Amino acid sequence: MRMVDVIAKKRDGGTLAIKEIEDFVRAYTADQIPDYQASAFAMAIYFQGMDEQESAALTKAMAASGDQLDLSRIAGTKVDKHSTGGVGDKTTFILSPIVAAAGVPVAKLSGRGLGHTGGTIDKLEAFPGFETELEEDTFIELVNKNKIAIAGQSGNLTPADKKLYALRDVTATVNAMPLIASSIMSKKIAAGSDAIVLDVKVGSGAFMTDLPAAKELARTMVNIGNELDRRTVAVISDMDQPLGRMVGNTLEVKEVIDVLRGNGPEDIYRLSVRLAAHMLVLGGKAKDVETGQTLANKLIQDGSALDIFRKFLESQGADPTLVDHPERLAKANNIITVEASASGYISTIDATKIGQAAGMLGAGRMTKGDIIDHAVGVEVKAKVGDWVEKGDVLVDLHANRDDVSEVVSVVKDSYQISDHAPEERPLIFHEMI
Ligand code: URA
Repeated sequence: MRMVDVIAKKRDGGTLAIKEIEDFVRAYTADQIPDYQASAFAMAIYFQGMDEQESAALTKAMAASGDQLDLSRIAGTKVDKHSTGGVGDKTTFILSPIVAAAGVPVAKLSGRGLGHTGGTIDKLEAFPGFETELEEDTFIELVNKNKIAIAGQSGNLTPADKKLYALRDVTATVNAMPLIASSIMSKKIAAGSDAIVLDVKVGSGAFMTDLPAAKELARTMVNIGNELDRRTVAVISDMDQPLGRMVGNTLEVKEVIDVLRGNGPEDIYRLSVRLAAHMLVLGGKAKDVETGQTLANKLIQDGSALDIFRKFLESQGADPTLVDHPERLAKANNIITVEASASGYISTIDATKIGQAAGMLGAGRMTKGDIIDHAVGVEVKAKVGDWVEKGDVLVDLHANRDDVSEVVSVVKDSYQISDHAPEERPLIFHEMI
């Protein structure tokens, strides 16, 4: 294969052969293709796109570029869930014990990641002692025993994606639909589950800010998953304001416990149950999503999901009694309120800015080496559609530093207050089954 010919073929709108895509991924991962040719190739894909077969071939080749988990020693249909990311999104910790309680095995690999708030692994580490570096055998044993284990990703999962993503980041080619979809799906395919539920976020705090783009991403990923023999469904859900009320690692796990007790904010409860319902269908435990929802609700209400959560914490080294005494989890030293500067309806909350505020307090990391402060974050007291009087609390900042004036400005900036009640936005816009 001459790389220049492959670039030219895609530049001119041609359809690549599977072998050309495989050869590119293999050679690029092995440093045999220079970044300038890979950049030109990514740009050609950006403008010309890829069809379903090309996208699936790229995904498969990237998944095969490093370690791939073999979950065949785990009995049952393994169902994974992926969210394209959002502020206050803690559904993984709610739906995983729900579906595990129904007998659907959850064998999840997650990352720490960079961002305003921690990744899945960081949030779990809000439970002191929680162990995420598991040997493969231990991981599989735990899933067989408890139906749930969550471990940190190995360093060698999808190296092709790591290299290509870093290149896309600096060549203005991140936002190419087939590249985003194959990047996300390659990691899911390598992680080994049989079926995948995708939660594609749309709104001010999401990667996709408008519905048509979110639908296109969802459709592309569902096609790739199904093409590669993983049953895949997608839910497109709202990320135009933070999900739930807590943003920040310990605050979020406290909210998780609330929801698993049958309480907690309505949006995070409802979305978690809906995603769990899809997982229950894919895992063969419910005949349709409505039945799945009823089952998921029951597993919360009768305490089974919370029981599994306790077992999960204990098996991975954390104290399960924290579930019954969340007040013993780390607390920030100061709570600073941010108040409404006028009376009216909350018309918008820029979720990204709330995430930024949490990040400024220390809840996330901007570079790999940053240390997270698990205790800090933002507690959202007023959500979109609420009426507030001037001086009412919009958010509580949980802070371990004295000067939070910049954080207060970011939060104030994120809120818009209007005389008119905003139009209601659905929590779930669309589902692709
Ligand atoms: N998330 C990913 O994992 N990859 C992308 O390309 C974009 C978002």
